[in-house]
Amino acid sequence: MARILETWLGCCLLVSAFGMVPPPENIRVNSVNFKSLLQWDTPALPQGNLTFTVQFLSYQKFQDMCTNTKKTECNFSSLSKYGEHTLRVRTESEGNHSIWVNVTFCPVEETLIGPVGMQVNALSESLYIHLSSPQVENEPEGWTLKSVYSAWAYHVLYWKNGSDGKIPLMSQHDSLVLQNLEPWTTYCVQAQAFVSDRNKTGKWNEPVCEQTAEDGEEDGACRHPPLLAHPPAGLRGIVLRGLAALLLRGAAVGRLQEDQVCPLAQECAPSAPDGVLESPSSQHTPLLPTV
Ligand SMILES: *[C@@H]1O[C@H](CO)[C@@H](O)[C@H](O)[C@H]1NC(C)=O
Ligand SMILES: *[C@@H]1O[C@H](CO)[C@@H](O)[C@H](O)[C@H]1NC(C)=O
Ligand SMILES: *[C@@H]1O[C@H](CO)[C@@H](O)[C@H](O)[C@H]1NC(C)=O
Ligand SMILES: *[C@@H]1O[C@H](CO)[C@@H](O)[C@H](O)[C@H]1NC(C)=O
Ligand SMILES: *[C@@H]1O[C@H](CO)[C@@H](O)[C@H](O)[C@H]1NC(C)=O
Ligand SMILES: *[C@@H]1O[C@H](CO)[C@@H](O)[C@H](O)[C@H]1NC(C)=O
Repeated sequence: MARILETWLGCCLLVSAFGMVPPPENIRVNSVNFKSLLQWDTPALPQGNLTFTVQFLSYQKFQDMCTNTKKTECNFSSLSKYGEHTLRVRTESEGNHSIWVNVTFCPVEETLIGPVGMQVNALSESLYIHLSSPQVENEPEGWTLKSVYSAWAYHVLYWKNGSDGKIPLMSQHDSLVLQNLEPWTTYCVQAQAFVSDRNKTGKWNEPVCEQTAEDGEEDGACRHPPLLAHPPAGLRGIVLRGLAALLLRGAAVGRLQEDQVCPLAQECAPSAPDGVLESPSSQHTPLLPTV
């Protein structure tokens, strides 16, 4: 203990004697949905009034981003989403300053994708799921991450509440329908964004659980023939999981989605030909059923 204190005192006396200001510590970027903050910790030296300055490199010259701030973070969301940025930060104290510490960051590659929005409505033995992309920070309303990442899709998990068997699906649409579920059963759904061309996944959202009812007549027009007519429950689960796993690996897009999942708007149009999957526009406003 004494030795540690001695070393610490030695270090700090030395530092003050030479008038050196320690640089900020633990420098990191916290970036979610393109809201990007450079953050750091105050160096361990109690040297009175410390302030910090952050600059960014633009056309080979550094420009100020945050100057003489007492905060330990600097918002650089206003910089372009594309391209790699070089930022640097230093400590200032009583007219002296530390060395600069560099950080590089490429928002479009490195920003984290936050949880997606999700609405789940049960109608008879189906669940209607509507997913929405998060907004981009510092852009007008309606600018979503989906408009930045063209290969935007969703990983969806659903399961019977209380069971461990989570069934994975992939959807390129904002709306999908899970059909032929068990009646009077509570299912839970969870989703995350997935950007395949960048192998980037978002944060999972909180599961939403809804209880199915029994098939009435009102949604008869929205049904496909089931994948397997009425297999024993156990077998059905296994087959679905197997297929879904294939889907997730990108090996197959087809049977499962075609028969068990369909984009909502297209599917419920009275004249939609049976088995048509792709919705011509992903911008449609889905007609969520009111139960
Ligand atoms: C700033 O640092 C220099 C040495 O680099 C030192 O001589 C000077 O006293 C310091 N100034 C203040 C105000 O601490
Ligand atoms: C810090 O700055 C305030 C005024 O901004 C001053 O009153 C105070 O004496 C300074 N503290 C030290 C330790 O220099
Ligand atoms: C920080 O980045 C600038 C610009 O790229 C470069 O000139 C400088 O050498 C870098 N400094 C360090 C310590 O890496
Ligand atoms: C960060 O900066 C952007 C653009 O300058 C601004 O729209 C946003 O509100 C700021 N966010 C915070 C948390 O300060
Ligand atoms: C899910 O099941 C658990 C017990 O396994 C129960 O406590 C909970 O209320 C159920 N949630 C819903 C939404 O039904
Ligand atoms: C995609 O990312 C995951 C981890 O997030 C990694 O395990 C996998 O190997 C990556 N795939 C490719 C093709 O880079």
